[in-house]
Amino acid sequence: MKILLLGKNGQLGWELQRSLAPLGELIALDRHSTDFYGDLSNLQGLAETVRQVRPDVIVNAAAHTAVDKAESEPELARLINASAPGLLAQQAQQLGAWLVHYSTDYVFDGSGTQPWLETGTPAPLSVYGQSKFEGEQLIAAHCSKHLIFRTSWVYAARGGNFAKTMLRLAQERERLTVIDDQWGAPTGAELLADVTAHAIRQVLQRPQDAGIYHVAASGETTWHGYAKHVLAHAARARAAIKIISKEVAPVPTSAFPTPAKRPHNSRLNTAKLQAAFGLSLPPWQHGVNRMLEEVLEDS
Ligand SMILES: NC(=O)c1ccc[n+]([C@@H]2O[C@H](COP(=O)([O-])OP(=O)(O)OC[C@H]3O[C@@H](n4cnc5c(N)ncnc54)[C@H](OP(=O)(O)O)[C@@H]3O)[C@@H](O)[C@H]2O)c1
Repeated sequence: MKILLLGKNGQLGWELQRSLAPLGELIALDRHSTDFYGDLSNLQGLAETVRQVRPDVIVNAAAHTAVDKAESEPELARLINASAPGLLAQQAQQLGAWLVHYSTDYVFDGSGTQPWLETGTPAPLSVYGQSKFEGEQLIAAHCSKHLIFRTSWVYAARGGNFAKTMLRLAQERERLTVIDDQWGAPTGAELLADVTAHAIRQVLQRPQDAGIYHVAASGETTWHGYAKHVLAHAARARAAIKIISKEVAPVPTSAFPTPAKRPHNSRLNTAKLQAAFGLSLPPWQHGVNRMLEEVLEDS
């Protein structure tokens, strides 16, 4: 089996390089690749890549993920998050290949307190969310063999992330304030990559499982709860921090104005994925603790 992976050096792309490797021949590209075009803003080049590689499965981990920046460059966000996935969907359909893609809780407006189901009505608050929603729609319209995984609050040990920022600020500052009115579940790129590999193996045997699924670690928290968890863990590991967990002050979203609006309720109901693929999703703290062990070991 031949797998074409796009966005190989992002948080998720990096982990997919690991989890997809045992499934077959993996051709992994980023926007700077020279063997084949891997830049999603070059639609012609992208189509050429798919025609030359002739993959059985395309996994698209590339995206315009700069949520605030997207507000001032909507055309680029739409090109990468909607037009490129749409083109990949058409190419995959022509080849009879699978397309695996990722979307976001930001397709929802964040109203209410219940975890969102796949059948919930998207109403994005931001350009990023809108562009990701358009990407989902184009894929569903053009490629029957698709898997779209909507996820939330992705982190990885590699690269920058919220937990690392909290650790750094707790070393530098005497006071830390963190938003406590946005709810969701931090989800590890490792977990997403492993779920992806399991799901690909299954859909190759059971094409009727194609569709859209919510994937997130279990449980829920706020950014404030997440920050407190990170600092409590760091204190137990005797990291050099000035602020302890109970000193992190909760503030509303309005205390940190940003160009893009974020949903308050990013909880995702993952029952469909767990039932369809026989998977169980671990509590969010498990993956975060593993990532912290790695990060603190390196610091
Ligand atoms: N991060 C989150 O909290 C989150 C939450 C929900 C859903 N998601 C979704 O999960 C997926 C993976 O996200 P992630 O966290 O792994 O994001 P990430 O770390 O920002 O990775 C995105 C990758 O896409 C690449 N990329 C950007 N523009 C490109 C282009 N024109 N051509 C080729 N590659 C390009 C980036 O490359 P450069 O480094 O060269 O820019 C980067 O390697 C995305 O679909 C995202 O929308 C993420």
